[in-house]
Amino acid sequence: MSPPRKLREVIEIEDLNFSWKNNHVLEDVNISIPNNQLIAILGINGAGKSTLLKCINKILKPDSGNIKLQSNDISDLNLVELAKRISYVPQSVLTSFSMEVFDVVLLGRRPHISWRISNEDRDKVSKTLKFLNLEDFAFRRFNQLSGGERQRVIIAKAIAQDPNLFLMDEPTSDLDLKNQIEVMTCIKKLVSKKEGTKSALIAIHDINTAARFADRILLLHDKKIVADGTPEDVLTEENIANVFGVTSEIIPKSKSNPLRVIIKDKTNEYKENTEEE
Ligand SMILES: Nc1ncnc2c1ncn2[C@@H]1O[C@H](COP(=O)(O)OP(=O)(O)O)[C@@H](O)[C@H]1O
Ligand SMILES: [Mg+2]
Repeated sequence: MSPPRKLREVIEIEDLNFSWKNNHVLEDVNISIPNNQLIAILGINGAGKSTLLKCINKILKPDSGNIKLQSNDISDLNLVELAKRISYVPQSVLTSFSMEVFDVVLLGRRPHISWRISNEDRDKVSKTLKFLNLEDFAFRRFNQLSGGERQRVIIAKAIAQDPNLFLMDEPTSDLDLKNQIEVMTCIKKLVSKKEGTKSALIAIHDINTAARFADRILLLHDKKIVADGTPEDVLTEENIANVFGVTSEIIPKSKSNPLRVIIKDKTNEYKENTEEE
C-alpha cells in the first residue's frame, strides 16, 4: 500500500488573538486547513466567526498570532497577492452596485488581470455563471436583484476569482432551500477536485447544512475552538447543549442520509402548560 499523500496546508493559523477594545473575541485560536476540505464554522451570534474570517482576510489586524497562507505570512502579502489566493464573501452585500451581473462577477478576475481583460477571463465568468445557474441573470442590474439572487452573484464572483481558500460568511443565509443546496454542492465540487488545491472555511448557522456538506466542523465558543473534527465527532448532544444551549437528538449518518440534528423545542412543554391553564 502506498503511503497516504501528504496534504499541503492551505492555511495555518497559530495562537490568534483578537480584541475589540476590552472585548477579547478570539483567544489562542489554532486552525490548520489542508487542501480539499470544506470546513464549516459554527457558533452563536457574537461568537467571533466573522471576526475570525476578517482576520484571515486581513480586514482586521490580530493582536497576536501568525497566519500562514501556503507557507507565506499573510502580513507579507499585498492585497492583490492575497486576493489571488483568498476570496471572501462577506455576511452582508453592498446593494449599490448598478453594474450588470456579468461585470460584477468579472470583478472577481481583477487580481489576475495584468493589463487588460482577456477572453480567458470572460470565459471564466461565463462558465461560473453557468455553474451557478445564473446565466439568465448575466445582463440584469445587480442592484435590481433580490437578496438571494445578489448573494448567488457574490458567490459567483468569489468562484471566478479562482482562489485556494474560500472564506464565506453565512453565504446561504438569504437563499431558498434549493439554492442553499445548489450553492453548497457547487462549493463542495470545487474543493473536492482530486488534484485541486482549494478549501473553504464557511461560517454557517444551519447545523444540518453543515452536517451534510462539511468534511470538518469547527465549534467556536467562548473565544476558542472547542471542537474540531468530522460532523460525527463534533455534533454531539453534549456539544450542542454547551454551545447553543438547546437540547437535541442526533440521528446518526446512514448509507442514504447524512447525520441529522433534531432540535427539541419546547412545543410539548408549552402544550402541557397551556392545557393546565
Ligand atoms: N466593529 C465592531 N466594533 C466593536 N465590536 C465588534 C465589532 N464587530 C463585532 N464586534 C463584537 O465582536 C464579537 C464577535 O462578533 P462577530 O465576529 O461579528 O460574531 P459572529 O460573526 O460569530 O456573530 C461580538 O461581541 C461583537 O459585538
Ligand atoms: Mg457573523
